[in-house]
Amino acid sequence: MPATKPVRPFFSSGPCAKPPGWDAAKLDPASLGRSHRSKIGKQRLQYCIDLMRELLRLPDTHRIGIVPGSDTGAYEMAMWTMLGARGVTTLAWESFGEGWVTDAVKQLKLDPVVIRADYGRLPDLAQVDWSTDVLFTWNGTTSGVRVPDAEWIPETREGLSFADATSGVFAYAIDWAKIDVATFSWQKVLGGEGAHGVLILGPRAVERLESHTPAWPLPKVFRLTAKGKLTEGLFKGETINTPSMLAVEDAIWSLEWARSLGPDGLIARSDANAAALDRIVADRPWLGHLAADPASRSKTSVCLTVDGADEAVIKRMAKLLEDEAAAFDVAGYRDAPPGLRIWCGATVDTADIEALGPWLDWAYATALASH
Ligand SMILES: Cc1ncc(COP(=O)(O)O)c(C=O)c1O
Repeated sequence: MPATKPVRPFFSSGPCAKPPGWDAAKLDPASLGRSHRSKIGKQRLQYCIDLMRELLRLPDTHRIGIVPGSDTGAYEMAMWTMLGARGVTTLAWESFGEGWVTDAVKQLKLDPVVIRADYGRLPDLAQVDWSTDVLFTWNGTTSGVRVPDAEWIPETREGLSFADATSGVFAYAIDWAKIDVATFSWQKVLGGEGAHGVLILGPRAVERLESHTPAWPLPKVFRLTAKGKLTEGLFKGETINTPSMLAVEDAIWSLEWARSLGPDGLIARSDANAAALDRIVADRPWLGHLAADPASRSKTSVCLTVDGADEAVIKRMAKLLEDEAAAFDVAGYRDAPPGLRIWCGATVDTADIEALGPWLDWAYATALASH
């Protein structure tokens, strides 16, 4: 058994590791037990929004607000309020993208063009017809495949681009001019809590919201307009319904940590983690990347293939590592091909990724021996 363990063995791809130095006792309690519509409640929500705007380098053209239902809530809110005005294309190369296909086909009954690729690959992005609205996942968390950049999205497009960017924001620079709608949740790259989603709207999305009435009913938690006008208060911290101020305080703590590094500092931490894991993979013939092309390989949710390992071996490896508190939550997603998934986002320390290598050797050998 290796002598040194990762100091913080948290490698889950969501909820992800808390930032280094995080402690629940450090959260500011002043807004807790108060109305979220009190002066302090609104101030903290607005402060959280301001910090996100700064760290995402979001231009003034784009609005950003906090909504219910984590990333799923934010993305479905966008789908339900804006789709149906024109044709739809949905891209899927892993289970979360596939979830949005299901929403579009089975729930909204939109008959979209569906462009798919298998786990580990990206579909041909040049096939996309931008006269339609286009739904895609910036970083496919369960296959470790991401879009390489926003070059494939034309500057002028008739349809809207909808990016589920939950495991992409803060880890990649995003060209916001190409993005009409983006969503994420604090639980990923910030190491925050679930429950709330973040909705980003570009000007063309706002235009859609104000000009299009969906053919289906909208529950209150999805409503973004009143009397045909965007509810602007939502983007100043006047949430639709009651938020968890504890989750908001937790997000603020993580965002202040993130601000101490700056947007490039956050990206650099992810890059260094992914590079450290890549060295571990390169040194071991039995480990490989599920994502075939390095240009579209995730730097956050890195998915690995393990020679000769079926689901049972992977389960055993994950349990051995968990029992020793050497690495938590490293088994791949249940719908993905059997393998390992190691979160390399900014809240993870590179030294902990480096310490993981010998533990993977040990878990692999032990799991295979008892197979
Ligand atoms: C790409 C992607 N989309 C959506 C989700 C769902 O996120 P949430 O549970 O925050 O709604 C996840 C969670 O892992 C994800 O990785």
